[in-house]
Formats: sequence, structure tokens, C-alpha cells
Amino acid sequence: MLKNYLKTKRELVDLSIEYQLNKLKYPDIIADGMRYSVLNGGKRLRPILLLMVLELFGKKIELGLPIAVAIEMIHSYSLVHDDLPALDNDDYRRGKLTTHKKFGEAEAILIGDALLTHSFSVVADETRDISSDKIVKIIGMISRYAGINGMIGGQIIDLESEKKRVSLETLKYIHENKTGKLIKLPIEIGAIISDATDEEYKALEKYAEGIGLAFQIKDDILDIEGDFEKIGKPVGSDLELEKTTYPSIFGVAKSKEILKEVISDAKKSLNIFPDEKVQVFLELADYIGIRDN
Ligand code: IPE
Ligand code: IPE
Ligand code: MG
Ligand code: MG
Ligand code: MG
Repeated sequence: MLKNYLKTKRELVDLSIEYQLNKLKYPDIIADGMRYSVLNGGKRLRPILLLMVLELFGKKIELGLPIAVAIEMIHSYSLVHDDLPALDNDDYRRGKLTTHKKFGEAEAILIGDALLTHSFSVVADETRDISSDKIVKIIGMISRYAGINGMIGGQIIDLESEKKRVSLETLKYIHENKTGKLIKLPIEIGAIISDATDEEYKALEKYAEGIGLAFQIKDDILDIEGDFEKIGKPVGSDLELEKTTYPSIFGVAKSKEILKEVISDAKKSLNIFPDEKVQVFLELADYIGIRDN
């Protein structure tokens, strides 16, 4: 059952995150703020994806735990900054006050910066039994996918597209980068650690691109018809800021159709693997389409 699988993996990821964050002590406000921003009930999708790929190739998942933790730190930092008054100006995240509401705006900027920079030290200092060559390659990839050619690139075009009607091409760029890259990242890293063949790597990459896009289309739909109690963040934030989203271009009904197609294509990308080996990937793709949080 996917639900149990995700729960077990989430618990393991949460323990590893706590272990890494509990080492941080001083200055208190930054250490506490980092813990507040990460240890707060996230779904842990990105770290779990890395562990799933390692399992697919029969590798020990412990190999990837520090990198999985680092990716969740980067994702959480992206949320801390995304919620700032200068960006989406949201007051709730994961069912609690956003970091800037709790700690102050300047503090939230620094807490986000600390999460990003510390994540690289977790990868470099805590990873065991992965060759230095691979670690260097992985660090380069994290930096590319989190930065200008990744999440940040998507975030700035997202901001610049507020109150404008932009092309579908631009919307795709936004989604592929602001959300897609941090979802591709753990999947590709898992494939690198596991020495996947080119064919396997490409299949996983295509799957990752599909579920990454699906994830943000669903996020956009949940921003309209989600339940605050479940999503843990405000409903209607995109509408208020006049964001360009799938529903703003196509309407909700058509966005749901597109979402189904994208998910079905993502599942097809894995057809080079026997179905029973990728069962959890197939179920996860479906879950992304029906998730309510
Ligand atoms: C929220 O990501 C931001 C998006 C990219 C849509 P998640 O929905 O994975 O958030 P958490 O980590 O579970 O809180
Ligand atoms: C955020 O997209 C993607 C990030 C890089 C953080 P959104 O702005 O739609 O994410 P939520 O809805 O605030 O989680
Ligand atoms: Mg945003
Ligand atoms: Mg936002
Ligand atoms: Mg959103």
C-alpha cells in the first residue's frame, strides 16, 4: 500500500532531518528557525523519491539519506522565501505560521539562507560510501537545479508574470523550474548513485519531468478548491496575486484533464522497467493527481 510505504519512508526521513538539525546550536534563533521551518509536517516527497530510486536499483537507502535531508532543507528554504511579504506574502505553511510571521522578516531571510548553505555541508560532510567523483557531480547538480537554471529561475519568472497574461510556453518554463527541478533532482541523484544505464536514466528523467509538472498543476488546483485544514496553507493565494497558473489559463476542468494526461504519460515513461519493479512509482504518480494536501 502506497500510504504505508510513504509513511514509513517519511518517518525515516524525519528522523534523519532531526538528527542533522539537532546538531545546530548557536545562534539559537537561526537554529530554532531552521528546525521550525523544516520539522513541521511536510510530505517529504523529494527525499522519498531519492530513496525510491535507490530501492529500485537494490541499493541501501542509507547511502542517500544525507543527500535526501539536504534536498528537503533546500525545498524548505524555498518555501520560507516563497512565503515572504516580498514574494507570495502568505501567513500559513504546513498548518502553522510562516517562518517570517513567527521569527520576523529579516530573520526568515537569514533562516532560509542558512538552510540553503547548510544543505551543502550536509552533502559534503555527512555522506558516506559514495565516491568523491559522484559527490562532486551531485553537488554541481544540486546547485544548478536549485539556482538560476532551476528553482530560482522559475520563481523569478513566476513573480514577473503576476498580473499578466503570459504564454503557455512561459507557464511551462515556470512550472518546470520552480517546482520541476527540485523534483527531478532527487530522482536523477538516485540514478547517479545507482549507476543507472543511459536508458534507465532517461526513463526516470522523463517520469520525473511528468510528475513534477503534475505536482504543480495539482498545487494550482488545490489553491482554488483545496481545504485549508488539509493543505495547511492559504487557499486563493494565486488568485489574489493574479498568478499565471494552469487554471488561470485553461480553467479548472480543463486543467484536470491535462493533469490526467500528464500523469498517464509519466507512468508510460517507465515502461522499460517491469511493472512490479516500479509499482510504487506508478502509484505515486496517481497519488499526485488525487492528493488533497
Ligand atoms: C509546495 O511543495 C511547493 C510546491 C512546489 C508546490 P509541497 O506540496 O511538497 O510542500 P510540503 O513539503 O509537503 O509542505
Ligand atoms: C512555489 O510555488 C514553488 C517554490 C519554489 C517554493 P507556489 O508559490 O505555488 O507554492 P505554494 O503554493 O506557496 O506552496
Ligand atoms: Mg510562489
Ligand atoms: Mg507560494
Ligand atoms: Mg501554490
